[in-house]
Amino acid sequence: MRAVQFSTYGTPDVLEVVTISEPRAGRGEIVIEVASAGINQIDTKIRSGSMAATAELAAPAGTGVDAAGTVVEVGDGVDDVAIGDVVFGTGRGTLAERAILDQWAILPAGIDPVEAGAWGVAVETSHRLLSDLGVTRGTILLSGASGGVGSALIQLARARGLRVIGSASPKNHPYLEQLGAVPVAYGQELVANVRAAARGGIAGALDLSGAGVISDLITLTGDASQVISISDFTAPQQGARISTGATRTTSPRDGFAEALALPGFTLHIEKRFSLEDAGEAHRSVEGGHTVGKLVVIP
Ligand SMILES: NC(=O)c1ccc[n+]([C@@H]2O[C@H](COP(=O)([O-])OP(=O)(O)OC[C@H]3O[C@@H](n4cnc5c(N)ncnc54)[C@H](OP(=O)(O)O)[C@@H]3O)[C@@H](O)[C@H]2O)c1
Repeated sequence: MRAVQFSTYGTPDVLEVVTISEPRAGRGEIVIEVASAGINQIDTKIRSGSMAATAELAAPAGTGVDAAGTVVEVGDGVDDVAIGDVVFGTGRGTLAERAILDQWAILPAGIDPVEAGAWGVAVETSHRLLSDLGVTRGTILLSGASGGVGSALIQLARARGLRVIGSASPKNHPYLEQLGAVPVAYGQELVANVRAAARGGIAGALDLSGAGVISDLITLTGDASQVISISDFTAPQQGARISTGATRTTSPRDGFAEALALPGFTLHIEKRFSLEDAGEAHRSVEGGHTVGKLVVIP
């Protein structure tokens, strides 16, 4: 089968389409024929080597965590899905014709698998952040709200009854309004902009883009413990929290179920790419201004 791999860490140019043997499902895993695979910032950080313990790759590596598609193999111990079911979720090496998933949910008829291929990480992260934040009423602030995680978070938070203020570039403010958030501009005026938009204070704040705003978010909430970042690892030094997939306290499947239970949940797909254009997709995501998500279609 055809898959995107890299043999050395580096720029998006290290990504190449190669022919490799098909993956096999291990215990608790499934193999899908990939309809689409979302691109995440984490894919680009792994590819660049910035997250690697050593400078050399041991062997050629696949790329991609998100995907949706049709189940073609079910591993031992899996009893909630059958061959032929259409699922979305997360796994590994998803920029390929076939890929392994270890977390999934069955996709109801009527939801386009090409779009749902971009849901996994954004939905899991959003569910985890809302659960960890624990705010049940009032207003929350999302810093960097127009990307993949922010687009999912706004919808889940609104469905939980929260008012959402989101920061984004002014050109993306209509997009945030469409999703149900009150948009504000980021930058030096962030605190003033949020105060002008807030009624009755900010109950919790989530730093999505890692733009160095932790102290502003603490100022706005008045409580460092009510600030969580997913991308600024200085947050704990400032009294705020950091949340990662590696230390998650929630089940990805509960996150998937929350999105599926929400009528009309959707993630905007800004652009579709082929396997051959995976490098271009990585470069675009690295630019840090994706509106919604990007997907690769094998
Ligand atoms: N720890 C975890 O578990 C976890 C999970 C998922 C993602 N992440 C990380 O979280 C980050 C966000 O992920 P994502 O998928 O949402 O990224 P994304 O789709 O690339 O979106 C990033 C958003 O940040 C906004 N932005 C850019 N510069 C900004 C600034 N100076 N201030 C405020 N916002 C700014 C952009 O908005 P405009 O285009 O409107 O400017 C863009 O929409 C990434 O670093 C990713 O690696 C961590």
